[in-house]
Amino acid sequence: MSEIKIIETSDGSQSLYHEGLNETYHSTHGAITESQHVFIKHGLEFLLNSSKESINILEVGFGTGLNALLALGFANNNQRVHLNYTTLEPYPLDENLIQKLKYHEQLSDQVSKEDFFRFHQCSWGVCHELQPNFKFTKHQTTLQEFETNHQYDLIFYDAFAPSKQAEMWELSLLEKLKSHFGKETVLVTYCARGQFKRDLASIQMKVETLAGPPGKKEMVRGVYRG
Ligand SMILES: C[S@@+](CC[C@H](N)C(=O)[O-])C[C@H]1O[C@@H](n2cnc3c(N)ncnc32)[C@H](O)[C@@H]1O
Repeated sequence: MSEIKIIETSDGSQSLYHEGLNETYHSTHGAITESQHVFIKHGLEFLLNSSKESINILEVGFGTGLNALLALGFANNNQRVHLNYTTLEPYPLDENLIQKLKYHEQLSDQVSKEDFFRFHQCSWGVCHELQPNFKFTKHQTTLQEFETNHQYDLIFYDAFAPSKQAEMWELSLLEKLKSHFGKETVLVTYCARGQFKRDLASIQMKVETLAGPPGKKEMVRGVYRG
């Protein structure tokens, strides 16, 4: 098994470096800054502004749990919103590595240390009501193998980059995802590759290219209205 190491990014938050892929889990220009910008600001806040109060989220790639932790912080700051957070991860991180992650320290105004470790320690495949306005389910599976009857309002597409894991960015996977879209579904990702944008458009999403987080010119949001 290839090694995964903790690194520090420019905003002082941690990320992971996957030696085998020669790839990091987040932007080296700031892990928390990137996740906050792409997934919370342009995903959750955008949907909340369109007056949705109950939001089903599907995350592709749970990894460190940073996006889930930020979403929980968002729910804590917006008590009227109900989040139902589902995440997929085929390769869970080693317990020793998880113990060294300290995202809760930088986010202590929103979440606790217990919140962070609960995400990692809770059982797979079961819906956990972590607090009255936040439900959490993690599945140990790939997106390719994932089966569900649920529909999602918001997709956090946080796979490794196309240059490292090309199969995650194929049109066939987007077509599969589309079968889990609700009446209105938003997908956000840090990746602004032309082919991916064309593929989003081909599944009837309106594609917006937005300013990216530090170190990245652009990011993408797709909006589907069925
Ligand atoms: C860029 S990292 C995600 C980072 C994560 N959201 C975080 O905040 O730490 C990509 C993640 O996708 C996971 N992954 C790899 N292949 C996958 C697949 N086929 N389906 C779903 N997730 C996958 C990886 O194990 C890794 O945790």
